[in-house]
Amino acid sequence: MLILGIESSCDDAAAAVIETSRPGVARVLSSTVANQDDIHRAYGGIVPELASRNHVITILPVVHRALESARVSLAEINGIAVTRGPGLVGSLLVGLMCAKGIAQVSGIPMVGVNHIEGHLLAPLLENEIEMPYLALVVSGGHTALFAVEDFGRYRRLGTTRDDAAGEAFDKVAKLMGLGYPGGKVIDDLARRGNRRRVKIPRARVKGAPLDFSFSGVKTAVATFLRGNAGASTAPEDLAASFQEAIVDMLIAPTLAAARQTGAATVALTGGVAANSRLRERLTAAAEDEGLRVVTPSLKYCTDNAAMIALAGGWRLLRGERDALTIDAEAGLPL
Ligand code: KG4
Ligand code: ZN
Repeated sequence: MLILGIESSCDDAAAAVIETSRPGVARVLSSTVANQDDIHRAYGGIVPELASRNHVITILPVVHRALESARVSLAEINGIAVTRGPGLVGSLLVGLMCAKGIAQVSGIPMVGVNHIEGHLLAPLLENEIEMPYLALVVSGGHTALFAVEDFGRYRRLGTTRDDAAGEAFDKVAKLMGLGYPGGKVIDDLARRGNRRRVKIPRARVKGAPLDFSFSGVKTAVATFLRGNAGASTAPEDLAASFQEAIVDMLIAPTLAAARQTGAATVALTGGVAANSRLRERLTAAAEDEGLRVVTPSLKYCTDNAAMIALAGGWRLLRGERDALTIDAEAGLPL
Protein backbone atom coordinates (compact mmCIF):
# COMPACT_ATOMS: atom_id res chain seq x y z
CA MET A 1 0.00 0.00 0.00
CA LEU A 2 1.27 3.49 -0.85
CA ILE A 3 0.26 6.05 1.74
CA LEU A 4 0.43 9.82 1.53
CA GLY A 5 0.95 11.43 4.94
CA ILE A 6 0.13 15.07 5.63
CA GLU A 7 1.08 16.94 8.81
CA SER A 8 0.55 20.60 9.74
CA SER A 9 -0.27 20.61 13.46
CA CYS A 10 2.15 23.32 14.49
CA ASP A 11 4.68 25.36 12.51
CA ASP A 12 5.93 22.71 10.07
CA ALA A 13 4.03 21.72 6.94
CA ALA A 14 5.02 18.21 5.96
CA ALA A 15 4.11 15.50 3.48
CA ALA A 16 5.52 12.01 2.95
CA VAL A 17 4.95 8.87 0.94
CA ILE A 18 5.51 5.48 2.55
CA GLU A 19 5.09 1.96 1.28
CA THR A 20 3.69 -0.50 3.80
CA SER A 21 2.24 -3.99 3.78
CA ARG A 22 2.29 -4.76 7.51
CA PRO A 23 1.33 -2.53 10.49
CA GLY A 24 4.38 -0.63 11.72
CA VAL A 25 6.62 -1.78 8.88
CA ALA A 26 7.27 0.76 6.17
CA ARG A 27 9.70 2.06 3.61
CA VAL A 28 9.83 5.84 3.46
CA LEU A 29 9.84 6.88 -0.21
CA SER A 30 9.89 10.60 0.56
CA SER A 31 9.52 12.94 3.51
CA THR A 32 9.30 16.68 2.91
CA VAL A 33 9.05 19.46 5.47
CA ALA A 34 8.55 23.22 5.02
CA ASN A 35 10.03 24.70 8.17
CA GLN A 36 8.94 28.14 9.45
CA ASP A 37 11.65 28.86 12.03
CA ASP A 38 12.83 31.91 10.06
CA ILE A 39 9.33 33.39 10.17
CA HIS A 40 8.75 32.94 13.91
CA ARG A 41 12.29 33.75 15.06
CA ALA A 42 11.59 37.48 15.05
CA TYR A 43 8.81 36.92 17.60
CA GLY A 44 10.73 34.58 19.90
CA GLY A 45 8.09 31.87 19.56
CA ILE A 46 5.39 30.47 17.29
CA VAL A 47 2.71 32.95 16.22
CA PRO A 48 -0.30 30.70 15.44
CA GLU A 49 -1.87 33.04 12.89
CA LEU A 50 1.39 33.28 10.93
CA ALA A 51 1.84 29.51 11.09
CA SER A 52 -1.54 28.77 9.51
CA ARG A 53 -1.26 31.53 6.90
CA ASN A 54 2.06 30.14 5.76
CA HIS A 55 0.72 26.59 5.72
CA VAL A 56 -1.91 27.78 3.23
CA ILE A 57 0.90 28.84 0.90
CA THR A 58 3.20 25.84 1.36
CA ILE A 59 0.97 22.81 1.87
CA LEU A 60 0.21 21.98 -1.76
CA PRO A 61 3.80 22.50 -3.00
CA VAL A 62 4.97 20.29 -0.11
CA VAL A 63 2.53 17.52 -1.12
CA HIS A 64 3.64 17.84 -4.75
CA ARG A 65 7.29 17.63 -3.73
CA ALA A 66 6.66 14.52 -1.62
CA LEU A 67 4.93 12.77 -4.54
CA GLU A 68 7.60 13.89 -6.99
CA SER A 69 10.59 12.78 -4.95
CA ALA A 70 8.86 9.43 -4.26
CA ARG A 71 8.30 9.17 -8.04
CA VAL A 72 4.69 8.33 -7.37
CA SER A 73 1.59 9.85 -8.95
CA LEU A 74 -1.53 10.63 -6.96
CA ALA A 75 -3.37 7.91 -8.89
CA GLU A 76 -1.04 5.31 -7.35
CA ILE A 77 -1.72 6.41 -3.75
CA ASN A 78 -3.94 3.93 -1.85
CA GLY A 79 -4.59 5.92 1.29
CA ILE A 80 -4.16 9.33 2.90
CA ALA A 81 -3.24 9.81 6.56
CA VAL A 82 -3.57 13.32 7.96
CA THR A 83 -3.00 14.81 11.41
CA ARG A 84 -6.29 15.99 12.91
CA GLY A 85 -5.05 16.94 16.40
CA PRO A 86 -3.76 17.86 18.88
CA GLY A 87 -2.17 21.13 17.81
CA LEU A 88 -2.94 24.67 16.76
CA VAL A 89 -6.41 24.57 15.30
CA GLY A 90 -5.69 27.00 12.44
CA SER A 91 -2.60 25.01 11.46
CA LEU A 92 -4.39 21.65 11.73
CA LEU A 93 -7.23 22.85 9.53
CA VAL A 94 -4.93 23.61 6.59
CA GLY A 95 -3.51 20.08 6.38
CA LEU A 96 -6.87 18.47 7.09
CA MET A 97 -8.69 20.48 4.41
CA CYS A 98 -5.91 19.71 1.94
CA ALA A 99 -6.28 15.97 2.67
CA LYS A 100 -10.06 16.12 2.46
CA GLY A 101 -9.87 17.97 -0.86
CA ILE A 102 -7.58 15.33 -2.34
CA ALA A 103 -9.72 12.51 -0.92
CA GLN A 104 -12.92 14.07 -2.22
CA VAL A 105 -11.76 14.49 -5.82
CA SER A 106 -9.77 11.26 -6.05
CA GLY A 107 -11.91 8.91 -3.96
CA ILE A 108 -8.79 7.76 -2.06
CA PRO A 109 -9.64 6.64 1.51
CA MET A 110 -8.50 9.06 4.20
CA VAL A 111 -7.92 8.61 7.94
CA GLY A 112 -7.37 11.29 10.57
CA VAL A 113 -4.39 10.65 12.83
CA ASN A 114 -3.52 11.75 16.34
CA HIS A 115 -0.18 13.60 16.17
CA ILE A 116 1.05 11.95 19.38
CA GLU A 117 0.41 8.50 17.92
CA GLY A 118 2.71 9.60 15.09
CA HIS A 119 5.50 10.44 17.54
CA LEU A 120 4.94 7.16 19.44
CA LEU A 121 5.27 5.03 16.30
CA ALA A 122 8.04 7.10 14.62
CA PRO A 123 10.80 4.87 16.10
CA LEU A 124 9.35 1.99 14.02
CA LEU A 125 10.22 3.79 10.78
CA GLU A 126 13.83 2.69 11.15
CA ASN A 127 13.78 -0.05 13.78
CA GLU A 128 12.03 -3.25 14.60
CA ILE A 129 10.83 -2.94 18.19
CA GLU A 130 8.93 -5.52 20.13
CA MET A 131 5.79 -4.29 21.88
CA PRO A 132 5.16 -3.30 24.59
CA TYR A 133 7.79 -0.58 24.50
CA LEU A 134 8.10 2.61 26.46
CA ALA A 135 8.12 5.90 24.57
CA LEU A 136 9.32 9.20 25.95
CA VAL A 137 7.82 11.95 23.78
CA VAL A 138 9.69 15.21 24.37
CA SER A 139 9.00 18.16 22.12
CA GLY A 140 8.11 21.83 22.21
CA GLY A 141 4.49 20.96 22.85
CA HIS A 142 4.60 17.64 24.70
CA THR A 143 6.46 15.77 27.39
CA ALA A 144 4.94 12.42 28.24
CA LEU A 145 5.66 8.75 28.84
CA PHE A 146 3.55 6.15 27.06
CA ALA A 147 3.45 2.39 27.06
CA VAL A 148 2.99 1.38 23.41
CA GLU A 149 1.17 -1.94 23.90
CA ASP A 150 -0.15 -2.50 20.39
CA PHE A 151 -1.30 -0.47 17.40
CA GLY A 152 -4.10 1.66 18.78
CA ARG A 153 -3.32 0.70 22.39
CA TYR A 154 -1.33 3.41 24.10
CA ARG A 155 -1.31 3.91 27.86
CA ARG A 156 -0.18 7.25 29.17
CA LEU A 157 1.95 6.69 32.25
CA GLY A 158 3.07 10.22 32.97
CA THR A 159 2.98 13.73 31.61
CA THR A 160 4.16 17.24 32.36
CA ARG A 161 2.15 19.25 34.84
CA ASP A 162 3.20 22.56 33.29
CA ASP A 163 5.70 23.33 30.51
CA ALA A 164 6.94 20.83 27.94
CA ALA A 165 10.69 20.18 28.07
CA GLY A 166 11.25 21.87 24.68
CA GLU A 167 9.26 24.84 25.87
CA ALA A 168 11.62 25.11 28.88
CA PHE A 169 14.62 25.06 26.51
CA ASP A 170 13.01 27.75 24.35
CA LYS A 171 12.02 29.96 27.31
CA VAL A 172 15.44 29.74 28.95
CA ALA A 173 17.15 30.49 25.63
CA LYS A 174 14.94 33.57 25.35
CA LEU A 175 15.86 34.65 28.91
CA MET A 176 19.53 34.23 27.99
CA GLY A 177 19.08 36.20 24.76
CA LEU A 178 19.99 33.20 22.60
CA GLY A 179 17.11 33.42 20.11
CA TYR A 180 14.48 30.92 18.98
CA PRO A 181 14.22 27.94 18.86
CA GLY A 182 16.51 27.54 21.83
CA GLY A 183 17.10 23.80 22.21
CA LYS A 184 19.92 23.39 19.75
CA VAL A 185 21.67 26.61 20.80
CA ILE A 186 21.68 25.53 24.46
CA ASP A 187 22.80 22.01 23.51
CA ASP A 188 25.76 23.45 21.55
CA LEU A 189 26.72 25.97 24.25
CA ALA A 190 26.44 23.37 27.00
CA ARG A 191 29.15 21.20 25.42
CA ARG A 192 31.69 23.79 26.54
CA GLY A 193 30.15 24.50 29.96
CA ASN A 194 30.50 23.33 33.54
CA ARG A 195 27.37 21.38 34.47
CA ARG A 196 27.90 21.96 38.19
CA ARG A 197 28.57 25.68 38.06
CA VAL A 198 24.97 26.83 38.71
CA LYS A 199 22.73 25.08 41.23
CA ILE A 200 19.37 24.31 39.64
CA PRO A 201 16.80 22.47 41.78
CA ARG A 202 15.37 19.27 40.27
CA ALA A 203 11.58 19.29 40.61
CA ARG A 204 9.61 16.11 41.24
CA VAL A 205 5.83 15.92 41.31
CA LYS A 206 4.79 14.77 44.77
CA GLY A 207 2.98 11.45 44.71
CA ALA A 208 3.34 11.15 40.92
CA PRO A 209 6.82 9.75 40.19
CA LEU A 210 6.12 9.39 36.46
CA ASP A 211 5.06 13.01 35.96
CA PHE A 212 7.26 15.97 35.03
CA SER A 213 7.40 19.64 35.98
CA PHE A 214 9.70 22.13 34.28
CA SER A 215 8.34 25.56 35.15
CA GLY A 216 10.41 25.77 38.37
CA VAL A 217 13.64 25.29 36.42
CA LYS A 218 12.76 28.17 34.13
CA THR A 219 12.00 30.35 37.17
CA ALA A 220 15.29 29.30 38.80
CA VAL A 221 17.20 30.45 35.71
CA ALA A 222 15.27 33.74 35.59
CA THR A 223 16.00 34.39 39.27
CA PHE A 224 19.66 33.51 38.81
CA LEU A 225 19.99 35.87 35.84
CA ARG A 226 18.49 38.72 37.87
CA GLY A 227 20.94 38.21 40.76
CA ASN A 228 24.57 39.34 40.98
CA ALA A 229 26.04 36.01 39.90
CA GLY A 230 23.96 36.11 36.71
CA ALA A 231 26.09 38.71 34.96
CA SER A 232 29.42 37.12 35.87
CA THR A 233 28.53 33.54 34.92
CA ALA A 234 29.56 32.24 31.52
CA PRO A 235 26.51 31.42 29.35
CA GLU A 236 28.12 28.04 28.63
CA ASP A 237 28.04 27.17 32.34
CA LEU A 238 24.45 28.28 32.80
CA ALA A 239 23.38 26.38 29.66
CA ALA A 240 25.17 23.22 30.84
CA SER A 241 23.74 23.45 34.37
CA PHE A 242 20.20 24.04 33.10
CA GLN A 243 20.41 21.25 30.52
CA GLU A 244 21.72 18.79 33.12
CA ALA A 245 18.74 19.56 35.36
CA ILE A 246 16.28 18.94 32.52
CA VAL A 247 18.01 15.71 31.57
CA ASP A 248 17.96 14.48 35.19
CA MET A 249 14.27 15.30 35.42
CA LEU A 250 13.52 13.40 32.20
CA ILE A 251 15.55 10.34 33.03
CA ALA A 252 14.29 9.55 36.55
CA PRO A 253 10.60 9.08 35.59
CA THR A 254 11.59 7.26 32.38
CA LEU A 255 13.59 4.63 34.26
CA ALA A 256 10.85 4.33 36.88
CA ALA A 257 8.27 3.78 34.12
CA ALA A 258 10.46 1.15 32.45
CA ARG A 259 10.75 -0.73 35.73
CA GLN A 260 7.01 -0.48 36.28
CA THR A 261 6.00 -1.71 32.83
CA GLY A 262 8.77 -4.24 32.33
CA ALA A 263 9.35 -2.88 28.80
CA ALA A 264 12.63 -3.98 27.24
CA THR A 265 12.98 -0.94 24.99
CA VAL A 266 12.78 2.79 25.57
CA ALA A 267 12.13 4.86 22.47
CA LEU A 268 13.06 8.52 22.61
CA THR A 269 11.07 10.77 20.28
CA GLY A 270 10.08 14.42 19.67
CA GLY A 271 12.30 17.43 18.91
CA VAL A 272 14.12 17.37 22.26
CA ALA A 273 15.24 13.80 21.47
CA ALA A 274 17.86 15.61 19.36
CA ASN A 275 19.56 16.73 22.59
CA SER A 276 23.03 15.21 22.69
CA ARG A 277 23.26 15.08 26.48
CA LEU A 278 19.83 13.46 26.84
CA ARG A 279 20.78 10.78 24.29
CA GLU A 280 24.09 10.16 25.99
CA ARG A 281 22.74 10.01 29.55
CA LEU A 282 19.63 7.99 28.72
CA THR A 283 21.64 5.46 26.74
CA ALA A 284 24.10 5.03 29.63
CA ALA A 285 21.39 4.85 32.29
CA ALA A 286 19.33 2.38 30.27
CA GLU A 287 22.34 0.19 29.61
CA ASP A 288 22.87 -0.10 33.36
CA GLU A 289 19.31 -1.41 33.65
CA GLY A 290 19.59 -3.77 30.72
CA LEU A 291 17.26 -1.70 28.54
CA ARG A 292 17.61 -0.96 24.85
CA VAL A 293 17.33 2.68 23.81
CA VAL A 294 16.05 3.53 20.32
CA THR A 295 16.43 7.07 19.02
CA PRO A 296 15.04 7.81 15.58
CA SER A 297 17.04 9.96 13.14
CA LEU A 298 16.52 13.62 13.81
CA LYS A 299 14.22 14.01 10.79
CA TYR A 300 11.80 11.50 12.35
CA CYS A 301 12.12 12.92 15.89
CA THR A 302 10.87 16.35 14.88
CA ASP A 303 7.48 16.84 13.27
CA ASN A 304 7.25 14.96 9.97
CA ALA A 305 4.61 13.28 7.83
CA ALA A 306 6.26 9.85 7.52
CA MET A 307 5.30 9.11 11.13
CA ILE A 308 1.74 10.25 10.40
CA ALA A 309 1.57 7.97 7.34
CA LEU A 310 2.79 5.07 9.50
CA ALA A 311 0.29 5.85 12.27
CA GLY A 312 -2.58 6.02 9.77
CA GLY A 313 -1.16 3.10 7.80
CA TRP A 314 -2.14 0.28 10.14
CA ARG A 315 -5.77 1.44 9.98
CA LEU A 316 -5.76 1.93 6.22
CA LEU A 317 -4.30 -1.57 5.83
CA ARG A 318 -7.35 -2.89 7.68
CA GLY A 319 -9.61 -1.13 5.21
CA GLU A 320 -10.66 1.61 7.60
CA ARG A 321 -11.48 5.10 6.43
CA ASP A 322 -12.84 8.20 8.12
CA ALA A 323 -15.76 10.25 6.87
CA LEU A 324 -14.79 13.50 5.18
CA THR A 325 -16.75 15.28 7.90
CA ILE A 326 -14.08 14.70 10.59
CA ASP A 327 -12.90 17.91 12.18
CA ALA A 328 -9.62 19.27 13.50
CA GLU A 329 -9.39 19.08 17.29
CA ALA A 330 -6.85 21.24 19.12
CA GLY A 331 -7.05 19.10 22.26
CA LEU A 332 -7.61 15.68 20.64
CA PRO A 333 -6.98 13.02 23.31
CA LEU A 334 -5.07 9.86 22.44
O1 KG4 B 1 9.03 18.01 17.75
P1 KG4 B 1 9.37 19.44 17.45
O2 KG4 B 1 10.10 19.75 16.18
O3 KG4 B 1 8.08 20.32 17.43
C1 KG4 B 1 7.06 20.18 18.35
O4 KG4 B 1 7.17 20.84 19.40
O5 KG4 B 1 6.11 19.39 18.07
O6 KG4 B 1 10.22 19.99 18.70
C2 KG4 B 1 10.71 21.29 18.76
C3 KG4 B 1 11.36 21.49 20.13
C4 KG4 B 1 11.76 22.94 20.38
O7 KG4 B 1 11.30 23.31 21.65
C5 KG4 B 1 13.28 22.90 20.31
O8 KG4 B 1 13.90 23.89 21.13
C6 KG4 B 1 13.58 21.51 20.81
O9 KG4 B 1 12.57 20.71 20.22
N1 KG4 B 1 14.91 21.04 20.39
C7 KG4 B 1 15.89 20.74 21.25
C8 KG4 B 1 17.03 20.38 20.48
N2 KG4 B 1 16.67 20.48 19.16
C9 KG4 B 1 15.37 20.87 19.14
N3 KG4 B 1 15.91 20.73 22.60
C10 KG4 B 1 17.06 20.38 23.19
N4 KG4 B 1 18.19 20.04 22.52
C11 KG4 B 1 18.22 20.03 21.18
N5 KG4 B 1 19.34 19.68 20.53
ZN1 ZN C 1 5.27 17.01 17.44
